[in-house]
Amino acid sequence: MSDPFHFDLIIRNGTVVNASDETQCDIGVRNGVVTCLGKNLPVPEGCKVIDAEGGWITPGGVDSHVHIGQNQGNAQSADDWTTGTRGAIAGGTTTVVAFAVQVRGEKVMPAVEAYYDLADGKTHCDYSFHAIISDPTDEVVDKELAELVKFGVTSVKVYMTYADMALNDRQMLDILAGSRRHGLTTMVHAENHDIIEWMAERLLKQGMSEPMHHGTSRPQLVEDEATQRALALAEVIDAPMLLVHVSAKEATRAIRKAQTRGLPIYGETCPHYALLTAEKMQAPGFLGAKCVCSPPLRSDPSDKAGIWEGLANGTFTVLSSDHAPFNFFDETGKKYGLIENTTKNPAGNFRAIPNGIPGINTRSPLLWSYGVLEGRISRQRFVELNSSNAAKLYGMYPKKGTIQPGSDADFVIWRSDASRKSTIIKQENMHHGVDYTPYEDMEVKDWPRLVILRGEVVYDGESNQIMNQPGGGEFIKRRLSSLPGPRGTSRAWINDFQPHKI
Ligand code: URP
Ligand code: ZN
Ligand code: ZN
Repeated sequence: MSDPFHFDLIIRNGTVVNASDETQCDIGVRNGVVTCLGKNLPVPEGCKVIDAEGGWITPGGVDSHVHIGQNQGNAQSADDWTTGTRGAIAGGTTTVVAFAVQVRGEKVMPAVEAYYDLADGKTHCDYSFHAIISDPTDEVVDKELAELVKFGVTSVKVYMTYADMALNDRQMLDILAGSRRHGLTTMVHAENHDIIEWMAERLLKQGMSEPMHHGTSRPQLVEDEATQRALALAEVIDAPMLLVHVSAKEATRAIRKAQTRGLPIYGETCPHYALLTAEKMQAPGFLGAKCVCSPPLRSDPSDKAGIWEGLANGTFTVLSSDHAPFNFFDETGKKYGLIENTTKNPAGNFRAIPNGIPGINTRSPLLWSYGVLEGRISRQRFVELNSSNAAKLYGMYPKKGTIQPGSDADFVIWRSDASRKSTIIKQENMHHGVDYTPYEDMEVKDWPRLVILRGEVVYDGESNQIMNQPGGGEFIKRRLSSLPGPRGTSRAWINDFQPHKI
């Protein structure tokens, strides 16, 4: 029998924080996997010991919504798999899930395989994919969803907006029915496409083309209406659904209401909706383009409060970054709002600005600081939002998202209450590839002191140094979600329509 105390790494003198509880104990690791939690573990010869210095040890972050190497029209992603995942580990994220995109008229699997080749051997952290479905043909729904599951891609994202991606309600039903049948989770970008297009065209005609009018064209009711519609579609099919990047209180409440009714509905929000407001888009000239994302940042303070309420009360299952990196200072990204500017307005054309803001490098420290250290959420809730729930929803638990025997040795060591050090966020200290951060000059009360991926120190927060090489990350072949799925035959069917029979 192998020696259960044959560790090659021990973490001492910290408090292990899981979603369920926290314990002052050592962590014993062998071959990148946690093998033991216990007091005063024996140190075998040659075993490395890391002193957590009385700090908090949380599971490595799981950022389950990032866009890496994904262009938008002519605009080029500012992050490839190396720079994007470098930013991830420098902010305490040890696993990311990014998007392989089905181009309309093409098949899904070749896009996933090409995306796999793009990432293979290039990443600093572990990674997996969702598939964006822009064309849910019978072949996709009947065959390719099953192939995705076999490949380890057990979630799809669909859009209710963007001309080249938007699905109509009938297509949404098709994909929800297929996902239900094959066990996938459906992620939905909920905004009403026609209202946005109609308003945006008229705003441009009136000369209102500055970046801030991106927000004017996407009022809250655009998100609210699409969210309610998506929820109705999910209910018809009895399919699990995650509403992604929720920005405002109305959509948050709609999700809460569906959850209260027992539907398998999940919610995702992002640090920018909890911490930034539409003022960022009103910066002079073209500067507001840095914060053009969809749904847009909101101006009403009650929206931020509603997002924090949803983070605290369990409405939101996950907090992701929705990292969508487009450079501001060169001609490859945000500047398309000036280059493809058919208006006479020198402040640009909001319709040509690629959507999205960076956040992979800052997600966990922002939630730890503004959530836990400012008393808005508990440490347990932090772990749920930052790691565990994403690992469960996307079929990676308990390999990821927890610190227990058998799980990967992915940890973030935060400083103790006594030794905590605040940091001012500066672009010059970021490791992502994009050329700005929307959080410039914001203060966080702590930053990860050490980040460990499968037993290897990959980021040293004292020196802000990346410690591993590209290729240190592994592809994760995911299983099906372990969170509640379709309610099945126990439910009251809608007019006796039984979706499991289709
Ligand atoms: O503005 C955003 N969120 N850009 C990224 C694409 C998406 O819809 O998530
Ligand atoms: Zn989206
Ligand atoms: Zn996104």
